[in-house]
Amino acid sequence: MSIRCEQSPDEVSRVVRCWQRGGGSVGLVPTMGALHEGHLSLVRASVAECERTVVSIFLNPTQFSPGEDLERYPRRLEEDCRVLGEAGADLVFCPAEQTMYPPGFCTYVVQEGLPERLCGAFRPGHFRGVLTVVMKLFQVAPAQRAYFGRKDFQQSVLIRRMAEDLNVPVEVRVMPTVREKDGLAMSSRNEYLTAEQRRQAVCLYEALAAARRLFRKGERSSERLLGKMREVVAGFPAARAQYVEIVDPDTLQPVRQVGEDSVGALAVCLGEVRLIDNMPFGECPDIFLGRDS
Ligand code: PAF
Repeated sequence: MSIRCEQSPDEVSRVVRCWQRGGGSVGLVPTMGALHEGHLSLVRASVAECERTVVSIFLNPTQFSPGEDLERYPRRLEEDCRVLGEAGADLVFCPAEQTMYPPGFCTYVVQEGLPERLCGAFRPGHFRGVLTVVMKLFQVAPAQRAYFGRKDFQQSVLIRRMAEDLNVPVEVRVMPTVREKDGLAMSSRNEYLTAEQRRQAVCLYEALAAARRLFRKGERSSERLLGKMREVVAGFPAARAQYVEIVDPDTLQPVRQVGEDSVGALAVCLGEVRLIDNMPFGECPDIFLGRDS
C-alpha cells in the first residue's frame, strides 16, 4: 500500500487542519526512521485511537553530539514508508534537514533540571535537541494526540512536562515497551550489535527483571535493589554500566524507599553501542514479541 510522503511543513499543516475541520482527530508519531515493531506499535495505537495518523521521519541532528552515531544511524525511508502504509498511517512527514534547521536557526527549547538526570548527564545537549524538534513537530502537525515509547522513559517525561509547561494542546500518550522474546527492548541501535553483544544485551532486561522479582518478595531498599541490578550487569563481561538508578517517575530524582511507581533505569555500553532500558516496579504492561502470553 503506498502512502503519501510530504517534505513541506506548510503542506502537512494544511492537511492536518483540513482533517480536523472535517471533525477527525489526528495522531502524531514522531520517529527518526529505521522503524521496528516498537514504532509500529505506536502507529497502531494511533490508528486505533485517532481518525488520521501522521508519522514523522526525521533524523534530528541537534540531538546527537559530535562523535555520536548520527552518521551511521540506519536510514531506509522507502522501506519505512512501505510498512507505515501497511500499518494504516495516512501521511509521512519527512522534511529535509535544511527545512527544519534553515540558515540562521537559533531558537531552542531548554528545560531545567530534568534533562540533567539519567541519560542527560552523559549526553549533554541531547534533550535540548529532542525537545526542540518535538516542539517543532507539534507546531507543524498540531495533532490531538502524540505517541512515544516508554523505552525512552526520560524523553517521555520531559516531553509531557514541556507540553504542560508550554500549554501545547496535545495529549502525550506513552505506550508500552516492545521487547524481543528474551526481553531486549526494541531499538534501532540493536542493529549495531555483534552476535555476541546481542546475546549479552539481554543484561539490561535481566537486571530490571531481577530487581523487580526482589521487590515482589518485599525488598524496598533502593540500595539493595540497585546492588542486585549492578550484580546482574556485572555477570555479562561485554557490558559496561553507564548508570543504574531507581527514580521517582515525575522528578527523576533517586528514591531511597522503592514504591510501585518507582522506576528502575539503566544505560549499558556493549562496545560502542549504548543501550537504555527501564521498568516500573509496579504494573508493567511490556509487550514481548513471540511469547505466548
Ligand atoms: O525517540 C525518537 O526517535 C526521537 O528522539 C524523536 C522523539 C523522534 C525526536 O527526534
